[in-house]
Amino acid sequence: MNPVIDLLKSHRSIRKFTGQSIPRDLFRSILEAGQSAATSNHVQACSIIHIRDPEKRRQMAELAGGQSYVADCSDFLVFCADMKRSIDAAARAGAEVQTGMTEQHIVATVDAALMAQNVAVAAESAGLGICYIGGVRNNPGPISELLELPKFVYPVFGLCMGYADQDPEVKPRLPLEAILKEDRYHSDEDSRQVREFDDTMNRYYLERTGGNKDTTWSEQLMPLFTGKLRPHMREFLAKQGFEMK
Ligand SMILES: Cc1cc2nc3c(=O)[nH]c(=O)nc-3n(C[C@H](O)[C@H](O)[C@H](O)COP(=O)(O)O)c2cc1C
Repeated sequence: MNPVIDLLKSHRSIRKFTGQSIPRDLFRSILEAGQSAATSNHVQACSIIHIRDPEKRRQMAELAGGQSYVADCSDFLVFCADMKRSIDAAARAGAEVQTGMTEQHIVATVDAALMAQNVAVAAESAGLGICYIGGVRNNPGPISELLELPKFVYPVFGLCMGYADQDPEVKPRLPLEAILKEDRYHSDEDSRQVREFDDTMNRYYLERTGGNKDTTWSEQLMPLFTGKLRPHMREFLAKQGFEMK
């Protein structure tokens, strides 16, 4: 259709990297492309921590749930929702700042996600592979200490970047009709569409694993909604100044 749309539709997460380094000028322009993302009220509420120290990288891999690709990729970035810079700037400009508002948390988290996705697409457009690492929220306290994150900053996720040493298939998505609703929210077709998608995902998993992974999309969702997922996040966010007022 057009090369950008083709690129977006060919995305797949990469979890095995060659040891090759990304040239520094390319790395820099990928990050600058990240900065061009739209940003709520021009607040630019994201900071990226580039983990260069190999020992810190090893610790990050451990703290993110023992994900080896965090240590093995060419570059690992932690995207932080960052309200500190703008709170300080507004205070210097004379504002009596209100902190801890839920909306500020949303703004900063969305900004971090938009910047990261620009970085991801820019990297993929240059032939690199990426993988988001939500595992950084497994241990946000120790990670924030390791990265010396101040109040009003929290790590949203990490991003592995490097040259792919694998060529996984593109993972299917729900049919567009399932997520695109006309004029109002309607869920009448949900169960049929999900059933069909479960079949699609079951075939995908079976093929990908030579018959070993016999599961569906719905079954894969179960841990998300049975156990309490990362129950430490509420307290952690409050401690970082995101009290959700
Ligand atoms: C915010 C976020 C966090 C993620 N965290 C992890 C992670 O910690 N480890 C991992 O291997 N993949 C992680 N992923 C990758 C997803 O598992 C992956 O995007 C999803 O299964 C769809 O597959 P695809 O990216 O290959 O299309 C994460 C993705 C997102 C968007």
